[in-house]
Amino acid sequence: MDIIQTIRERRSINFFEPGKTIPENTLRELLEIANLAPSSFNLQPWKVIVVRDPERKKALRVCAFNQPKVEEASAVLIMVADPRGLEENLDRMLDSWVELGYLKPEMRETYADMARNIQSTEDSLKRKVFAVKNTALFAMNLMLAAKGLGLETHPMDGFDEDCVKNEFGVPANKIIPMLVAVGYLKSGITLLPRAFRRNIDEFVRFEKY
Ligand SMILES: Cc1cc2nc3c(=O)[nH]c(=O)nc-3n(C[C@H](O)[C@H](O)[C@H](O)COP(=O)(O)O)c2cc1C
Repeated sequence: MDIIQTIRERRSINFFEPGKTIPENTLRELLEIANLAPSSFNLQPWKVIVVRDPERKKALRVCAFNQPKVEEASAVLIMVADPRGLEENLDRMLDSWVELGYLKPEMRETYADMARNIQSTEDSLKRKVFAVKNTALFAMNLMLAAKGLGLETHPMDGFDEDCVKNEFGVPANKIIPMLVAVGYLKSGITLLPRAFRRNIDEFVRFEKY
């Protein structure tokens, strides 16, 4: 599917075909394509928990204010933003830049310092924002990739973060910006037309706020 058509046709789907599984190779392909998302300094501060087991989806549904789509979708992906993405990935990211010729070896430490300074300390608000914004781009990439692979999605922030962390063993220092339900549209369902979008003149300014 052409990218413009994919964007135009992506919708947040409320009715998934229950009991339908996503083939393993499709799920892996989906995650691999999503993983091509851009990120600050290419630090990729995201982790994903794929929830497919019916009992685990039931537990997740309880954390997600009983939203039925959590149980009905083939899988629900818990997006985890990791403020420690910098520590975890900086070295191999710089290695790859040096190896591929993006960066001269003598500039490696200068870039490392720049990245550390920009992202601030591990518990800072800046670091949390860094982790969340990049994970949100990953999630958007995933939703578009899903559409291209014949799947439907629904992003959700209607959940109790502590409940999800407790149920799924997510460490306290991580952030869960959203869940993304993935699956197939329930047969016989016709979507309502897409709801209100602002006219671009309402929110676009040129050159100045
Ligand atoms: C970060 C985020 C969180 C959302 N959380 C929920 C949610 O918890 N439950 C829900 O029914 N819809 C949720 N939505 C879906 C929005 O309502 C939906 O994207 C919006 O109405 C536009 O519809 P569309 O995605 O079909 O264009 C969420 C969307 C985003 C981007």
